[in-house]
Amino acid sequence: MVSTLLLLLAGAMTAVTAAPQHVPRAPGHALHVPQHVPRHVPHQGHQYVPQYASDRAPWHVTRHVPQHAPRASLEDVRFLLWTSNNAGDDEYQTLKIGDLNSLGHFNGNDPTVVVVHGFSNHGYEGWPVEAKTELLKLGSYNVISVEWGKLAVAPWYPSAVKHVPQVGNLTAHLLDWLHEAAGMQAAGVQVAGHSLGAHVAGAIGQNLKNFRLPFITGSSF
Ligand SMILES: *[C@@H]1O[C@H](CO)[C@@H](O)[C@H](O)[C@H]1NC(C)=O
Repeated sequence: MVSTLLLLLAGAMTAVTAAPQHVPRAPGHALHVPQHVPRHVPHQGHQYVPQYASDRAPWHVTRHVPQHAPRASLEDVRFLLWTSNNAGDDEYQTLKIGDLNSLGHFNGNDPTVVVVHGFSNHGYEGWPVEAKTELLKLGSYNVISVEWGKLAVAPWYPSAVKHVPQVGNLTAHLLDWLHEAAGMQAAGVQVAGHSLGAHVAGAIGQNLKNFRLPFITGSSF
């Protein structure tokens, strides 16, 4: 949400042409939103990076960003699998829909937990990996992390949002296939997503053909 707000803010700021000499500060406010764009407004190709917890105007810091998100497609989505037999952070194997050889340590009799990262994150680091570690301390699980980081790359929030239904759909295909081809128990499947990943989790539930999810966990912050 913050990111959407920032993009809206950046858009609104570039739309204003008036250029006052003096821009008042508002000390004590975490984010000072100016009414006008200052003279030294950065040219296209830069993005406003607001500074929180500062009395500096939000346009004070800029960095160069390309105007468009890097090319990425559904082929960049990977499904990373950890089990008790390959539990190390870097020991994940990659599940490929329709490829029985990719099943590796997957065990359909164990409960399956799918974790989905959010905007500007990755499935092979951070909380999905920590969740894997904690789950595998508790018992035998198939932990699948949906790695869609290339489609969720910052600062292109609208582009990430656009990919949410497709990533959810693809993950639903994976789960339908695991159910059909690898004997995954439908009753033992849990899906948990953070931020935009929570929306992906919802899209997974919508697109499943062969079974329904018992429940979905979504978290914001
Ligand atoms: C999901 O994927 C299938 C197969 O690729 C496609 O036919 C369908 O239109 C997709 N649905 C959505 C909502 O993207």
